[in-house]
Amino acid sequence: MILHINGVPIHYHVSGTGPAIILLHGFLESSTMWNRLVPLLAEKNTVVTVDLPGHGLSGCLDEVHTMELLADAVFQVISELDLDMVRIMGHSMGGYVSLAFTEHYPSMVDTLVLLNSTSIGDSMDIRKNRDRAIAVMKKNPDLYIGMSIPNLFAENNRKGFRTEIETLKKDAFSFPHEGIVAMLKGMKIRKDRSSVLKKFDGRKYLICGTDDPIFDVSDMEKLSITSNTMLFKVDGGHMTVNENWSEFVKIMYFIDFL
Ligand code: MLT
Repeated sequence: MILHINGVPIHYHVSGTGPAIILLHGFLESSTMWNRLVPLLAEKNTVVTVDLPGHGLSGCLDEVHTMELLADAVFQVISELDLDMVRIMGHSMGGYVSLAFTEHYPSMVDTLVLLNSTSIGDSMDIRKNRDRAIAVMKKNPDLYIGMSIPNLFAENNRKGFRTEIETLKKDAFSFPHEGIVAMLKGMKIRKDRSSVLKKFDGRKYLICGTDDPIFDVSDMEKLSITSNTMLFKVDGGHMTVNENWSEFVKIMYFIDFL
């Protein structure tokens, strides 16, 4: 299905019936990352997956895709579907968007799942890395995408998940380059939303990979304590859905998504 925001197409899919679950993909990903999960969730839920602006089949909304702008796009999809209460699971950057959504529409969120994600904003060093990433992306997008995707997997999983890595790369190569740059700019300036996570009084979960190359597990442990959020630690890197499907499914049962 397609929703137009200021004339820009935003693609989303709806499956199943029951309480609503919104699934938001991460950076350099699209709604296809949930292809294995959706049929399972759709047995008892209305499952909505969205291609966030500038990713998948969706167009770009602006030069900078702030988390607020992306959360507003998600709100417009939810409104179009007439949903008033949702459970949201966001992978990495999708988690940043989920938190921005929760900050703006707290009464609409029943459950928040940050999958390989965090509420903590970028450090100065990470911001500098974002600038470097933007420069490489503008000069040689294929090099940037080709290097970034394997680095999401735990080092010892990169060979075993070669096929998945190639599929993800192929998908990301087709995204509009200005969309990728707009996301990098938006993530760089996103604010720390740890207070949003702490304040949120619905069900809330963090899922982290013990070998995540992006987020340190000890930081996740601290965040879990300070924000009073239940933490699941699983083997593997940043791509739990690929790298540890069996544990991921167990968690989905535990949190009553399945
Ligand atoms: C993602 O997977 O969405 C990104 O790695 C998040 C980030 O770069 O902060």
